[in-house]
Amino acid sequence: MFLGSCSGRQSALDPAGVEAEKMAELFWLMAGGAALIWVLVLGTAFYATRVRPRPHGEHVGRMLILGGGVAFPLVVLTSLLIYGLALMPELRAPGDGLKIRVSGEQWWWRVAYYRPGSDAPVHAANELRLPLGQRVELELDSPDVIHSLWIPPLAGKVDMIPGRTTRLVLEPTRTGTFRGVCAEFCGASHALMAFMVEVMEPEAFAAWLESEAAPARPAKDALARQGADLFLELGCGACHTVRGTEARGPVGPDLTHVGSRLSLAAGIMPNEPDAFARWIAEAEEIKPGSRMPSFNMLPARELDALAAWLESLQ
Ligand code: CUA
Repeated sequence: MFLGSCSGRQSALDPAGVEAEKMAELFWLMAGGAALIWVLVLGTAFYATRVRPRPHGEHVGRMLILGGGVAFPLVVLTSLLIYGLALMPELRAPGDGLKIRVSGEQWWWRVAYYRPGSDAPVHAANELRLPLGQRVELELDSPDVIHSLWIPPLAGKVDMIPGRTTRLVLEPTRTGTFRGVCAEFCGASHALMAFMVEVMEPEAFAAWLESEAAPARPAKDALARQGADLFLELGCGACHTVRGTEARGPVGPDLTHVGSRLSLAAGIMPNEPDAFARWIAEAEEIKPGSRMPSFNMLPARELDALAAWLESLQ
């Protein structure tokens, strides 16, 4: 059970960011300190069961209570506190230029990248891409209830509070794919509010952001074209935006490049045509309470067409 959580894409003990490295260091020190105290307490308790009353017993007992019960915890806990405070992140330190605004919504993530020197944000959703070795500033908020953004391998969690903007600076130290979650109970589908994080080489990140900023390419094959038409006929564009088309809805996730995302439905399904079709037909069953309705009245070929088009939005 213990070793199972020591590594993996969602482990705080397998750090891939500057802040997470400090937290892992603090965890191991605390665990060591706690183990030491545990051994000493048990040792003393064991010793106490063995000794018979002696002439100076009362004096020894008083020394044990004063030393082991007051002085020792005071010294150990105070040094752990000072050590922990020294590791706290510098909350006001600025980032290196790139800013990302993330809003927690029931139950998905609205994301906008603000490049240095450019006013127009690049809209995305339900995943984060970060350049390796750069300090990226995240501005966090929420339009509905309190959520909390937590990417254990990169940093500690920070609450997303309606009417307030909170801040988090991430500085990844290695490339890879990690998993983030919502860490504050926010309603029926709180457990289904996750996202993937991809840390990329800076050049690859710049290229990705460039392609993310571009409008959607027109559908190539007949099935996908049919899907694009259906999307508008069914009124999907009232909630979702697909830049480069007539779909400009502001309610749900921006789907301009949804086919290239690392997962579907906020980190809970693989990005595959079958999963798209299932999500469209059964959204309310898959994510209870979600504002996305189940389009279970659609025949399979129409679901396939929609899936083909969404998957083609690379
Ligand atoms: Cu959002 Cu829990």
